[in-house]
Amino acid sequence: MRLTAPAFDETEHALLRDCLASGWVTQGPLTERFERLVAERHHARFAFATTSCTAALHLAMMALEIGPGDEVILPAFTWVTTAHAAEYVGARPVFVDVTRDTFNIDPALLQNAITPRSRAIVAVHLFGLAAPMTEVLDTARRHGLAAVEDAACAIGTTYRGQPVGTFGDIGCFSFHPRKIVTTGEGGMATTNHEDLADRLRSLRNHGATGLPPTAEEPHGPWTMATFERLGFNLRFSDIQAAVGIAQMGKLERLLQERRARGERYSALLAGIQQLALPDGTGDGDGHTYQSYVVRIVDGDRKRRNEIMRHLADRDIETRPGTHAVHRLGFYAKKYGYGPADFPNAALCEDTTITLPIFPGMTDADQDKVVAALTAALRR
Ligand SMILES: Cc1ncc(COP(=O)(O)O)c(C=O)c1O
Repeated sequence: MRLTAPAFDETEHALLRDCLASGWVTQGPLTERFERLVAERHHARFAFATTSCTAALHLAMMALEIGPGDEVILPAFTWVTTAHAAEYVGARPVFVDVTRDTFNIDPALLQNAITPRSRAIVAVHLFGLAAPMTEVLDTARRHGLAAVEDAACAIGTTYRGQPVGTFGDIGCFSFHPRKIVTTGEGGMATTNHEDLADRLRSLRNHGATGLPPTAEEPHGPWTMATFERLGFNLRFSDIQAAVGIAQMGKLERLLQERRARGERYSALLAGIQQLALPDGTGDGDGHTYQSYVVRIVDGDRKRRNEIMRHLADRDIETRPGTHAVHRLGFYAKKYGYGPADFPNAALCEDTTITLPIFPGMTDADQDKVVAALTAALRR
């Protein structure tokens, strides 16, 4: 049984055929439609589709003009590229530990991470559960910092009833195949700020800044864009957008199904002392279970791996939750982190298991996972 699977049907095929028949395949009208769908769903004024969430995070750092000498605060338990984005612009990622029950940044530790060099906090809505945005925004405002939401896992996620992605200055979404909406690869940056929107638009498109003034030369077929800043080609394609539009059309159904599966896992696994189940409510109130991640309580990495092996032997695919980024070679060597730093992130990397959850999963599939997991825990 696969860990996850995309929900493709005739709607993706039809839109892809239309896109190819139109002859327009790079970023164009379909990308704009896809951007509007995500923007409307997440209450954003502006949305910019890009090649990945990693690219969106990189664009966010550049749009916020973060650079060498600056520090960017982020959770230690996240996908590695949340930190890479700060490195791309020459800033230093400053890790903060997470709480074991939410897997999200621990708001009680945020203040300790602030220095005169702090420029931004990146809050990660990990696995589809919103980060503690009230505390993140309070801290950011008190210290004059930007707030970025890494919403890679968080299409459809709400925080206190409001969709994530515009609580901070910029939100960054992913459409990788492990996400609820996928375009193969892909991402999106959302914002409500016009100045940031202008920069995101330009940085994604080679640094193009507009058209030259007509006073210099009248506009015509010879007119090319002006380039007042260094930018990148991080544009989307209408082929991807065709898939994205079809996916957005079934988002509510996909979310409903995920939540039902997540809640059913929690009901079936409730009361097992060795397991900590994902926090389905908390302040977040909108866990989407993009990933359903359990933690082995009072177990170590070896024990967790034995359980994963037991499941793999029964044809059930699982993955660890995500990285304790400070332990990865690049960060450990560059900043001299040791094993005792950010203990919750380390523990979560070592003792979490992501269980299969995918569109079309049946009760029988889920019962098989639960039976194999409980048998492994008894061994
Ligand atoms: C929290 C988090 N941030 C960033 C990313 C990167 O997303 P992408 O693969 O679209 O670059 C991921 C991907 O899994 C993620 O989980």
